[in-house]
Amino acid sequence: MKKLLNVLRSDEIDTDLIQVIETLIDASKEIAFRVRQGALAGVLGSSQEENVQGETQKYLDIISNQLMKDLLLACEPVAALASEEEDTVVAANATGKYLVAFDPLDGSSNIDINGQIGTIFSIYRALDSIPHHSELQFSQKGSQQVCAGYVLYGPSTLLAITTGNGTRCFTLDSRQGDFLLTSDKIQIAKDTQEFAINMSNSRFWNEAMKSYINDLVLGETGPRAKRFNMRWNAAMVGDVHRVLTRGGIFLYPSDSRNAKQPAKLRLLYEANPMAMLIENAGGKAHSETQRILDIQPQQLHERVAVILGSANEVSECLAYL
Ligand code: AHG
Ligand code: MN
Ligand code: MN
Repeated sequence: MKKLLNVLRSDEIDTDLIQVIETLIDASKEIAFRVRQGALAGVLGSSQEENVQGETQKYLDIISNQLMKDLLLACEPVAALASEEEDTVVAANATGKYLVAFDPLDGSSNIDINGQIGTIFSIYRALDSIPHHSELQFSQKGSQQVCAGYVLYGPSTLLAITTGNGTRCFTLDSRQGDFLLTSDKIQIAKDTQEFAINMSNSRFWNEAMKSYINDLVLGETGPRAKRFNMRWNAAMVGDVHRVLTRGGIFLYPSDSRNAKQPAKLRLLYEANPMAMLIENAGGKAHSETQRILDIQPQQLHERVAVILGSANEVSECLAYL
């Protein structure tokens, strides 16, 4: 089986970009090790701290962020970082060529229950025209990403990655410490009978979303005339990985729970990298109004509604909206 490094080299990826990817991978292996050790490594439980988004930080959110930051700051081609757990942009090397946005630990509510969690990342080219640590560096559209991926800490540790030339999966061989290619050029099934959404928010959705989900639930007796099954991992990495593996539609729509915050998932380090992975596997990724990768970011931690997965099913959903 091919090692990640050899696959990247054979794709003729810029060596500086390879160095950034390798650094992310090294950090994720450290996180994976601590995740495996669980309570033995003191990684369970919540701290007293809140991040800039007002969410209580779990110990593992803080540890993962620190590991990612330490390694990326020591990686020469990195110009600046944006993280879910950092209020503002973190300056790295002024002459670095690349920017990294990341969610160090996705699915925090699964940490203490030994459920699926992961790390999501997105890489851009740094813009010469702007100071390297300026927030404006990160106001590039998702279509400008040069690499996107996630590491899923599940029963096995998996890396899904794209540099724009298809989406691939690598599995961590924990004996040798290498990520080995286990799925090449993934193609998401165009049609599906499986959806993923947090149904407990249904009373806060708009009428169109209620009607779409209601029609799925009606199954073979409803207008869709087929039975749908539901899954919800409560970790975007887990749900997106299922969609990559066997198709499906994943939705985190806007809702009226909190007028100041209609959407939950963050554009820079959740929606954009997942959208790039999904599109590179033949799927579709939209907000409620446009293709996610075409959104012009306005703020570092901005949030966006997400509808992604099997192309035909995403289109069906958008037709309701
Ligand atoms: P994070 O742990 O990085 O804050 O992200 C959690 C996100 C995402 O992974 C998941 O899809 C969603 O929150 C789960 O939301 P619910 O709590 O509504 O299930
Ligand atoms: Mn997340
Ligand atoms: Mn997170």
